[in-house]
Amino acid sequence: MRNFNTILITGGAGFIGSNMIRYLLSEESGFKGVVINVDLLTYAGNLESLIDVEKSFGGGSNPRYKFVKADIRDRSAIENIFKNYNVDCVIHFAAESHVDRSILGPEAFITTNVLGTYTLLDVARKYWQEIYGTLSDAPVLFHHISTDEVYGSLGDTGYFTENTPYDPRSPYSASKAGSDHLVMAYHHTYGLPVTLTNCSNNYGPYQFPEKFIPLMILNMIEDKPLPVYGDGKNIRDWLYVEDHNVAVWQVIRYGKVGEKYNIGGENEWENIRLLEYLIQIVSEETGKPQEKLKELITFVKDRPGHDRRYAIDCTKIKHELGWKQSVSFEEGLRKTVKWYLDNRKWVDHIRSGEYLKWIEKNYGERGGRVC
Ligand code: NAD
Ligand code: DAU
Repeated sequence: MRNFNTILITGGAGFIGSNMIRYLLSEESGFKGVVINVDLLTYAGNLESLIDVEKSFGGGSNPRYKFVKADIRDRSAIENIFKNYNVDCVIHFAAESHVDRSILGPEAFITTNVLGTYTLLDVARKYWQEIYGTLSDAPVLFHHISTDEVYGSLGDTGYFTENTPYDPRSPYSASKAGSDHLVMAYHHTYGLPVTLTNCSNNYGPYQFPEKFIPLMILNMIEDKPLPVYGDGKNIRDWLYVEDHNVAVWQVIRYGKVGEKYNIGGENEWENIRLLEYLIQIVSEETGKPQEKLKELITFVKDRPGHDRRYAIDCTKIKHELGWKQSVSFEEGLRKTVKWYLDNRKWVDHIRSGEYLKWIEKNYGERGGRVC
């Protein structure tokens, strides 16, 4: 088992990163060290997602949590963070993550996802080389978080395995594919100890409500239209965010260096079927009649280049590392719906006038949606 003292988490103020920090600092993970959260706080980064963590672990004489606002593209800022905190592990979540936005404005996706990843890799390589000389045996790790979208789109059958050739089809997935290749190149060329995971669609608390599940939940609560792209028959493989983070932690501690692992929910749903299921749960939790919620479903123009189906084969991580999903879809969706109902302050701040003004300025009045 690998052990680390100081884990640098990039993008820790985002959806999966904030859940990861909470998990790492919980008893359950067994991690005893310090977490440094480096985030630029773009529209998707929100320190309100970490108020409890800051309170429990950010103070006292031996704080185990520290937030540093920085851009992963800023080399000198990243160099200072490595030096100041003597980082021995990186878990790299920071990215522009929304496909629709990548279609409207690809540039930030290229600079953050490709150049930002390069900057982190190169700073890590130089910093760890100075300390340990040879990198291949150094007790350090760079773990890169990636997506199943790098594999392209499936037809009615088949699954993405770790050997599926890359075939990214949106600016987002192309930028993630570029970052994956850089991570592997740094391993093969310089001996940087890396691991990489490609995961399917996550859902759960603290997800920014531009993504399908939180958008639909909030629109139902607010009696707004539920926009379904195209014919609604695109398929995604849904995984509860905590199950994802447990898998990532397994790979970091026990995975083979230089290898990649797929993580998936084995839980495929057509978007329209998923929406009907969500309607049922929201109706049960709020008392809103299902028929009224169904009337809100609105089929809209399809996302350009909309990948038809994603489905992950996660045999490798199950067999090699003994990981498996533990949260059923019913349980995960109900927890998620309840979380959005119970956390109106978090939601209201995001859906507030200030945020909307920012979105309009940067993405126009459609708010980052292409349809
Ligand atoms: P998110 O959009 O919720 O969070 C991204 C975070 O990165 C934000 O806090 C943002 O402020 C930060 N960030 C963006 N640009 C930055 C920069 N230049 N410097 C520093 N910080 C910056 O994303 P998420 O859904 O939590 O996804 C996290 C990672 O997981 C991404 O790499 C994404 O590609 C990958 N992933 C996501 C999913 C999913 O379903 N959400 C599935 C598979 C993989
Ligand atoms: O597969 C992993 C990927 O999952 C991650 O790499 C991405 O970061 C993450 O955003 C997610 O990408 P998707 O494009 O699959 O997620 P999104 O929530 O945007 O859309 C899910 C499906 O729902 C997709 O088929 C498009 C559709 N959709 C989405 C929105 C926002 C709609 O029909 N209506 C909508 O309003």
